[in-house]
Amino acid sequence: MYNDAILDGYGAAALRLKRDPLRIKTSGSEFPLTLGRDVSGVVMECGLDVSYFKPGDEVWAAIPPWKQGTLSEFVVASGNEVSRKPRCLSHIQAASLPYVGLTAWSAMNQIGGLNKDNCSSKRVLIFGASGGVGTFAIQLGKAWGAHVTAVCSEDASELVKRLGADEMVDYKSGNMEKQLKTLPLFDFILDNIGGSTEKWAPDLLKKWSGATYVSLVTPFLVNVDRLGVADGMLQTGVTIGAKAVKHLCKGIHYRWAFFTPSGPYLDEIADLVDSGKIHPVIDQVFSFSDVPKAFWKMEEGHARGKTVISVTNKK
Ligand SMILES: NC(=O)c1ccc[n+]([C@@H]2O[C@H](COP(=O)([O-])OP(=O)(O)OC[C@H]3O[C@@H](n4cnc5c(N)ncnc54)[C@H](OP(=O)(O)O)[C@@H]3O)[C@@H](O)[C@H]2O)c1
Repeated sequence: MYNDAILDGYGAAALRLKRDPLRIKTSGSEFPLTLGRDVSGVVMECGLDVSYFKPGDEVWAAIPPWKQGTLSEFVVASGNEVSRKPRCLSHIQAASLPYVGLTAWSAMNQIGGLNKDNCSSKRVLIFGASGGVGTFAIQLGKAWGAHVTAVCSEDASELVKRLGADEMVDYKSGNMEKQLKTLPLFDFILDNIGGSTEKWAPDLLKKWSGATYVSLVTPFLVNVDRLGVADGMLQTGVTIGAKAVKHLCKGIHYRWAFFTPSGPYLDEIADLVDSGKIHPVIDQVFSFSDVPKAFWKMEEGHARGKTVISVTNKK
């Protein structure tokens, strides 16, 4: 049995596949809380309605935020959240990809409309290109044939170029905005940074051509924490509506994207991995006993790819 996992947090384990989502009795409290979203492991048991998988299958998944996490020996997942692990990856390597892969897929494909058939003449700009989502997004853009410009710090330039980025702009150079404005306009921008970036970066898009700005940094959770579920969702809806209309008047689309669990999209990602178009980018691997150290490392920032937890000693 393999129990490898990823942080960000992301654990891993053997899987029990059930027809129904895991039910957790909380009694008003969310604790004990298991962190972790990614898992790569071996199926232990399947529910009666699960026919596509069987015990012993090597699978990977990213578990939805409303379920307990994956930093544990066993994980319960729904059949439609799970996919067969890429054959060419170890469990530790595989555990680094589902969450960031599905988040980038949601932003670039589901929200941004990019795919393997329409990217050959498209220019893509990625802010925050050296982190988990960014390193995946560069490779996805290149796998689909786009021209990719990566914004990251100078010390990550070798990494992003190795992943295929055509151009790199250093956000610490002091003239990032000026440099980006000298480049031809873009068809798609993925914003992993948020904040002041979105005040000026949408101007880097082509106007009236379907170009799209997608941000992964949204006020959704902050609003729900501050105002409660109903008012928080209402406030979030008003904010995104106002921003979308404001940018539409300028001839561009403005959208937010969210991680979406999906076995079928993981199948597509597994094909890209097995065909050598996408590679895992692992910053550091920690043992299960070092989980607190792994979280401290993440707290410090400056990720270069993903932080992985190995729940067992097996590779
Ligand atoms: N909406 C969703 O469902 C969803 C899902 C996943 C992630 N997210 C969000 O997406 C963002 C990216 O996630 P991630 O997992 O990729 O984060 P990450 O692994 O921590 O990576 C962030 C990267 O950005 C770099 N960076 C920091 N400031 C920058 C700047 N001003 N310009 C360019 N690069 C900068 C960091 O390196 P240096 O500091 O060394 O430059 C780091 O490599 C996070 O804000 C996360 O919360 C949202």
